[in-house]
This record gives sequence, C-alpha cells and structure tokens, in this order.
Amino acid sequence: MGTKLVAFVILSVFFAYYVYLPLPEALGERWKLMMVDACFRSLEHLAELTELIGLKHYMEVMMVLTAAETVAPASDENVTVMDTTFNKVPVRVYVPSSRNLGLRRAVVYVHGGGWCIGSAKMQPYDVLSRKSAAELNAVIVSVEYRLAPEHHFPDQFNDVYTVVKYFLQHDVLAQYLVDPGRVAVSGDSAGGNLAAAVAQQIQEDPEVQGEIKIQALIYPALQTIDFNTPSYQQNANMPILPKSLMLRFWSEYFSRDKSLLRNMMSDSHMTLESRRLSDLVNWSVLLPQKFRKSYRYVLPGRENSDFSAKVPGIFDPRAAPLLAGDEKLKALPWAYIVTCEYDVLRDDGAMYVMRLEKAGVRVTHEHYEDGFHGAMMFITWPTDFAIGQKMMSRYIDWLQKNL
Ligand SMILES: *[C@@H]1O[C@H](CO)[C@@H](O)[C@H](O)[C@H]1NC(C)=O
Ligand SMILES: *[C@@H]1O[C@H](CO)[C@@H](O)[C@H](O)[C@H]1NC(C)=O
Repeated sequence: MGTKLVAFVILSVFFAYYVYLPLPEALGERWKLMMVDACFRSLEHLAELTELIGLKHYMEVMMVLTAAETVAPASDENVTVMDTTFNKVPVRVYVPSSRNLGLRRAVVYVHGGGWCIGSAKMQPYDVLSRKSAAELNAVIVSVEYRLAPEHHFPDQFNDVYTVVKYFLQHDVLAQYLVDPGRVAVSGDSAGGNLAAAVAQQIQEDPEVQGEIKIQALIYPALQTIDFNTPSYQQNANMPILPKSLMLRFWSEYFSRDKSLLRNMMSDSHMTLESRRLSDLVNWSVLLPQKFRKSYRYVLPGRENSDFSAKVPGIFDPRAAPLLAGDEKLKALPWAYIVTCEYDVLRDDGAMYVMRLEKAGVRVTHEHYEDGFHGAMMFITWPTDFAIGQKMMSRYIDWLQKNL
C-alpha cells in the first residue's frame, strides 16, 4: 500500500510537471495536445541522450516516428497507388480510378519533417494524398526525397526539383492524362519550403516544359535570418515544434556541424552578406499589426565572419525562399498559404504573403487562430484533431475550386 501510494505520488508529480503545459484557450482539445506533446518531448530527450553518449544521431532516433507510421502502397476502389521513380527519385503516385473522361488535375506533394524525418509513405500523408486524388480527380505525386543527416542541402531541393521537372514534360503528363494547365506543387512545413523554392527556381529553367498553376504552402519554413520574429518569440515552447527543434532541423539541413545550431540558437549566425538580406525579412514592415503585436523589432543577429565559408547555402533562396529578391517573385504562380497562430513559423508564411502581394502575385492567405504547427498531419487515430480535419478539408475544397 505504502509503495503504491509513493509510486502514485511520484507519477502524479511527473505527470503534472512533464505533461501539463498551460496552452492558449484558443487551441481545441488541449489535453490531447499536451499528451501528444509529452510523447514528442520524451522522444526528443531520448534522442538527445542517445546522441550525447554517441550511440546514434539525434535524427535517427526521431526517425522511429516515421518508421512506425509507414504504410504499403495499397490501391482501393477509388485510387490506384504505386511506388515508382521519376528520373531516379522515388515517388508514390496516386491515380484516381474515376471514369470521368476529361483530363485530370495534378498535385506534386512534398511531405514535412524538417528535411530530416518524415516520408511520403507515412499514414497521414497517405490519407491526405488518397483523399486529394479521389476528391479532386487528380494525380498526386508524393515525393520521397533524400533526408538529413545523410544528405544535406541542396539534395532535398534537387530531388523535388527533379521530380517536378520530369513530371511537367508533355509526354509524361499525357501518359497520366493530366491537363498541363492544372498542375500544383504543394507541401507542409519543410515540404512547403521545398515547394516554394521549386516554384521560384523552375520558372527560370529554359528546359522546363509546362508550368505550375498553383503553389500551396502549408505552414512553410521560409527564412534563416531572423529567429526572433514575433511568432518565434510567442511560440518558442509551443507543441509540437519548439524553437529549439526548428533550429535543429534548419542546422541539420545544412551541416552535421553542431556549432551551426549553437550559433543559430544564440543568434550569432549572420555574416556581412546576410546582413544585406535582412530587409527582405524585416518583420517591422512585412507583418500586419495583428502579428507584430507589441514585440519590438531588433536588427537580427551578430556577425560571425567565418561563417558563410563553413556553411554554404544557408542564405541561398533555394533553401530560404523569403531571401529571393522582388524581381524573382513577380511571375510566381497563385499561392495558397496557410499559417497558424501558435506556430514559430507563422511569420515566415505571413511575410511571404506580404512580399508576394507587393510583387503583384495572387495570394490566398488562410490563417488559423486555433492552429498549431503540424496540425494538418493530425488526422489519423489516435492522434486525430478536429483542427487537422478542418485544415485538410479546406485545403482540398480550395484546390477543388481553384486548381
Ligand atoms: C470511395 O469513394 C466513395 C465516394 O466518395 C466513398 O464513399 C468510399 O468510402 C471511398 N472508398 C474508400 C476506400 O475510401
Ligand atoms: C526594418 O524596418 C525598420 C522600420 O522601417 C527600420 O528601422 C530597420 O532599419 C529595418 N531593418 C532592416 C534590416 O532593414
């Protein structure tokens, strides 16, 4: 009896201390979110420990999430699913079986996971692609690009670029019965980053046939300069993407060198060159008041002169699309951009909305006051959230009307 009571007290204290997290009222299903977050945090701590004692890389431990959710390419009565390769890059393709005679639409989808984890084969992505294919009568090409820490920038970008370029060829589109005027690129989080970067670069490639009609970016990560935007400050400890994890993802995308993460954490990753890019992410002018709130703008970062040589690519627009100049934004396709109030990346998305609009690009900005980062992937039991379902159906509805 005595030991049971002690165990109960210890467990309760642990629970209260570790699981309980005061979350904003606006978020729904807060207890469930706390539990999910506690699981993520436990895994992050385990990953840290495993890396510390030299057993495995941090991201290899985080990959168990991906492995646990992997599903086989199973066709059903509405969609034929197959794993194949496009110009040597693995893709999972979803082809609708509708007898509808007209040409189909298509979406090249890029999964999230901080360029380090995740897979097109994970159940939530499979569900999303299946649903998109059936409801939109669209071919969905879900890209299985290479990941860090094995592979660094620009490999992830190049894989997605290769797939989009391959797919846009007239004969390939014809083979899948796709209307060349109705192709979208889309992705969430790091996938939104890759989709945005590919949309920018592909317009300058004279070899590319066809074009992208729509870019759909779900809470994308878009810049590597300012990690103290109001949303980074407000949501530094928000589930399921704390600032520390986001910066770990960013740093792993470029390098295994841990000093990069330390420099990003302490805001000392800037160079003379990146200093000149700061006005492209100046949130004091690029964010509406409702996002600026009462945060005070300070010039991002201390300079660290030997930095850019050590970490090539960190300020390349192919890695950080918000760092592209205005000229490059002008001819971009219509953008559907989702942001969540409780997300460190909210202001990356919101600044891109503003910069695209200023450049004359058509933008639909869908902001969720009750959203948190990653919500659209929480659509399968037991981690299904109403907000995830809402985001997914609005996303599909929007494509239904506009793609
Ligand atoms: C196929 O589509 C129909 C009509 O939308 C739906 O009722 C059915 O559940 C779908 N089948 C699967 C396996 O999702
Ligand atoms: C950002 O804008 C503010 C207000 O216009 C200005 O004071 C500041 O110097 C700008 N920062 C950069 C890096 O351009």
